[in-house]
Amino acid sequence: MARALCPGSFDPVTVGHVDIIERTSRHFDEVLVAVVTNPSKAPLFDLDERKALLGEVLAHIPNVEIDSFDGLLVDFAQERKISVVVKGLRAVSDFDYEIQMAQMNHKLTGIETLFMAASPKSSYLSSSLIKEVARYGGDVTGLVPDPVLRRLADRFGRGSGND
Ligand code: PNS
Repeated sequence: MARALCPGSFDPVTVGHVDIIERTSRHFDEVLVAVVTNPSKAPLFDLDERKALLGEVLAHIPNVEIDSFDGLLVDFAQERKISVVVKGLRAVSDFDYEIQMAQMNHKLTGIETLFMAASPKSSYLSSSLIKEVARYGGDVTGLVPDPVLRRLADRFGRGSGND
C-alpha cells in the first residue's frame, strides 16, 4: 500500500494546502497529514484548532488521515512506516529551504521527498501572508477554506469573512 506524508504547520490551512493534499490523495492509497506540534513561530491557532480545521476542510477526501507530531519528521515517518513525504513547491524561494530539508531528511533515514508544483492560482499564498492580511482587515475570501475564514473573522473581525 502506497502511503504519503504531507507535513506542515497549517497555521492555518490554505486553499493551496488543500490543493496539494487533494492531488496527493489521487496518487497514493493513503495520505497522512501531519501537523507539527510546535512550529518555529508562535502559532495563531493552537494544535487542536489547526487539526480541527484540517479535519473539516479535508473531510471530503476519504483516504486522508490527520495526526500531529513533535520532534523530527523522520522519526514520526518511521513510527508510522511511511517512506515518502510530499511537499508543495510554490516558487524558487521555497526551493532553497525545501531542498535542504529533503536532503537532510534523506541523509537521516533515507526517506524520499517528492515535490508537487503548486497550482498557479494558489502559488502566491502562504499561511503567514493570510494571517497578516486578515489581521489588518484585508479580505482573504477564497484564499482559505470557509471554516478557516470564519475562524479568522472570530480572531480579527471584519475583512476576514465577517462582512
Ligand atoms: O508548513 P511548514 O512550516 O513549512 O512545515 C515545516 C515542517 C513542519 C515540515 C518542518 O519544519 C519539519 O519537518 N519540522 C519537524 C522538525 C524536523 O524534522 N526538523 C528537521 C528538518 S530537516
